[in-house]
Amino acid sequence: QRHLLGIEPLSPQEILTILDLADRYVDLNRRTVKRTDVLEGLTQINMFFENSTRTQSSFELAGKRLGADVMNMSMQTSSVKKGETLIDTALTLNAMHPDLLVVRHPNSGAVNLLASKVECAVLNAGDGRHEHPTQALLDALTIRRKKGRIQRLTVAICGDIAHSRVARSNLILLGKMENRIRLIGPPTLMPAGFKEFGAEVYEDMNEGLKDADVVMMLRLQKERMDGGFIPSEREYFHRYGLDAAKLSHARPDAIVMHPGPMNRGVEIDGEIADDINRSVIQEQVEMGVAVRMACMDLLAQNLRAERGRALNGETY
Ligand code: CP
Repeated sequence: QRHLLGIEPLSPQEILTILDLADRYVDLNRRTVKRTDVLEGLTQINMFFENSTRTQSSFELAGKRLGADVMNMSMQTSSVKKGETLIDTALTLNAMHPDLLVVRHPNSGAVNLLASKVECAVLNAGDGRHEHPTQALLDALTIRRKKGRIQRLTVAICGDIAHSRVARSNLILLGKMENRIRLIGPPTLMPAGFKEFGAEVYEDMNEGLKDADVVMMLRLQKERMDGGFIPSEREYFHRYGLDAAKLSHARPDAIVMHPGPMNRGVEIDGEIADDINRSVIQEQVEMGVAVRMACMDLLAQNLRAERGRALNGETY
């Protein structure tokens, strides 16, 4: 494929190929190895129209570890602030002939639109409520390394499902890999459409967490609530915040995940987040660099093959 826009178009085999390659980029200390020949001579531009700590820094690190020339566009100081549209911005950057464009945007579908206008490979770093494919892939890699497999697990995804692109991408990926998925949250934060993916829906945390192998917590995304109902943080933590009592309903060896950024004391108790026997939150961040290296490696291989065919005058 030319782009990585979502998990939806990927086959289970393509997902496993990415995970296997990412695994090969991790050393025994869970650090990523340097291989500067992989993206040598290629230019990577990171365009983040929305704030990011983990995704932007790990894409930058991944590109540098693979030898790309990496440029971070500061959207705060760009001409977007003067009213330039997304498409005009993309076309301007396209004229500088980047090879890889990493894009985060607050609007669902904006990254797909942009990908249709440029000649390089585009990686979706999170678009609105739509998809966050590299997050789901790094979550899958973390689960596989901890549980020894990424199939036949009971995974509970908990909290603000309605506004979460992380939930959507994970639901698609884990469903493709034949896991049992439970969505837990208040009805006001539970979109009806997600049942179509074959997930079971629970309102009660203790019921939904019963015998779960993986507990994935989500941030309460107030910034996406568009003036709708916003639950009180105290009440939300009482009913849906992960604490020791609620976690005791999951399997004794269940792992706890959170994509970050975390609201301690809202969706997760700080003690659970820091418990190295249960929480794999730091490992998720570590795997983020490896997964992004793997994704860019594979897309660069496709891009080089495509350009090779074009040089030979082949039509495709
Ligand atoms: N998980 C995630 O996307 O984090 P950032 O918003 O910090 O990139």
